[in-house]
Amino acid sequence: MKNTQWTSSQLKQSFLDFWKSKGHTIIRNASLLPENDPSALFTSAGMHPLVSYLMGTPHESGNTKLANIQRCLRTGDIEEVGVTRRHLTFFEMAGNWSLNDYFKKEAINWSFEYLTSKEWLGLDPARLYATVFRGDDDASKDEDSIQIWKDVFNTVGIGANVVDLPEDSDTIEHISCYSKKENWWGPVSKTGPCGPDTEIFYDTGAQHDPAFGKYCHPNCDCGRFIEIWNNVFMEFFKNDAGQYEKAPLKNVDTGLGIERVILILQYKDNDGNVDKRLTIFSTDLFESLSKILVNYFFDNTLTQPLDIYLSEKNIPEPDQIAIKVIIEHTRAAAMVLSEHIEPSNKDRGYVLRRLLRRAMRNMMKLADTYAPTKKQKLDELLGTLLEDIITQYGNEYPELTKEKEAILSLAHTEFKKFEQALQRGSTLFMNTIPEKLNGELAFDLYQSYGFPFELTQEMAAERGITISTVDFEKAKQLHQEVSRKGMEKKFAGGLGDKSPQSVMYHTLTHLLHKSLRDIFGQDIHQQGSNITPERLRFDINIKERLTDEQIKEVENRINGWIAEKLPVTRDEVSAEEADRRGALAFFSEKYGSTVTVYTIGSPDSPVSIERCMGPHVTNTGDIQGTFKITKQEKIGANLLRIKGQLV
Ligand code: SER
Repeated sequence: MKNTQWTSSQLKQSFLDFWKSKGHTIIRNASLLPENDPSALFTSAGMHPLVSYLMGTPHESGNTKLANIQRCLRTGDIEEVGVTRRHLTFFEMAGNWSLNDYFKKEAINWSFEYLTSKEWLGLDPARLYATVFRGDDDASKDEDSIQIWKDVFNTVGIGANVVDLPEDSDTIEHISCYSKKENWWGPVSKTGPCGPDTEIFYDTGAQHDPAFGKYCHPNCDCGRFIEIWNNVFMEFFKNDAGQYEKAPLKNVDTGLGIERVILILQYKDNDGNVDKRLTIFSTDLFESLSKILVNYFFDNTLTQPLDIYLSEKNIPEPDQIAIKVIIEHTRAAAMVLSEHIEPSNKDRGYVLRRLLRRAMRNMMKLADTYAPTKKQKLDELLGTLLEDIITQYGNEYPELTKEKEAILSLAHTEFKKFEQALQRGSTLFMNTIPEKLNGELAFDLYQSYGFPFELTQEMAAERGITISTVDFEKAKQLHQEVSRKGMEKKFAGGLGDKSPQSVMYHTLTHLLHKSLRDIFGQDIHQQGSNITPERLRFDINIKERLTDEQIKEVENRINGWIAEKLPVTRDEVSAEEADRRGALAFFSEKYGSTVTVYTIGSPDSPVSIERCMGPHVTNTGDIQGTFKITKQEKIGANLLRIKGQLV
């Protein structure tokens, strides 16, 4: 049932060949660790390593047309992995870029050509559905793209209609209009280039599931439509006042999901339908990992697509998800380990730990049910999976082969640590009085020992106590983890350090950011931050060291705000609302829903408003002492590091 004419490697090569034939330079697949963006943990989109070129720096190739395949990591949707047919943490994004070169007409026509031409992917045009920006107070409806799409569909004899409110429409049209939430990208920070996008969906022909809404439409989550390509038209610039101005440069930024497209190519039948049971986990990208797991847990040789096998074997859904989580997280963890990151409780190391431990926990769970005699050997299974990933991806990502020993040994050590944590967590649990066995304790165990919540729940149940998921989630929300939604924002201090001194430095960091922007203008932004109970450290894109007068001015402003005893408030709002309020942030969160915003001063005319996970003091008057800049250091051509202390 699998179409053998396409492999994922062939798809990647064909994408690059296509763009080369259109005059593009193929650029390297940059590291998973952003080189020029200390504010982000991982490369999260193909455009991420290209921001400076999109802002106007000429590309070193001399070309204004670029393309590549970029490895990316986003953990915002980690809970969706294995649950939906398309979610991943690590993925490969194929992209093409126009640096103020071609624009909407060429971009849309070429995307369509690549997807439908028999010479390239040969998808049936009738299966393709485009979405466009419907317009709002900030920017008008993307009529250009609508017209281009109509013309494009016309060339293949499809009279494409436009629907303005697809969610309320009982017909599905080839061109659907949506709001900013669906059809707008950027800016990557509070200000900068951004614009409407047009997304291309493939209709898999699946029956609509009314649980997801009365009518089906391209952005419906029922699984019928799969988004395969996003074309962003960066024709706007969001300024400091939150207004959208016409941008000086008109760029195109696109992203095509390799895993999703290969699912379609490998599994569409002669009519173009894709069996609803099939997910990206049935593609060749995950085939050998699937074989290892099916053999290990079910003692079977996998000869069918993974999803069909699991479904026909009547494996319960949670166990099906567990298999996919193991596959996905070990692949993502191998990629992170190959970049010299080690599991830890901070930043990138924490993301890695979470991926590995989620994979390990699911292995243990499956072993309990399906392979109890092999439970002691699960670290060997982890090693086998990692070796397989290294073999499969070693050519494309030579770091994997180079770091093989380190990857295997770090994963092994982490496995042992996790086992110990489970032991220690169990002891703490047993010594806790029944009244204290609640969501908060479950979260503590989870946070401090990596202790799986489900396990706490099970053990509590054995003592006749119910711990509700809602209570656990509440406790979790209060403490939010490092990489919550969207764009992997690195924030000051890391996890765990909530000493009163560090909390004061968190708030001081916002005040320092604000005072520097007041003095140097709104084009400067925090580039990195690190907090200990002794000091704050702050990196910012300022070219020269501060003069003595500027240092005085910064200190005076900050100490003035401390003396004013300003309230500090924390709000959970939508990403759009945060933008509306002008909250500073490193990345727009297209895929995120709720974000945390800290406001210092009165909400009507705040001194500072930033997206941040905190924690912060509740009033600047709680900051004990006088703030002083103790050191400054140039750490890059346009990067100044400032250290400050309370004295
Ligand atoms: N930056 C856009 C995205 O991530 C297009 O690549 O969807």
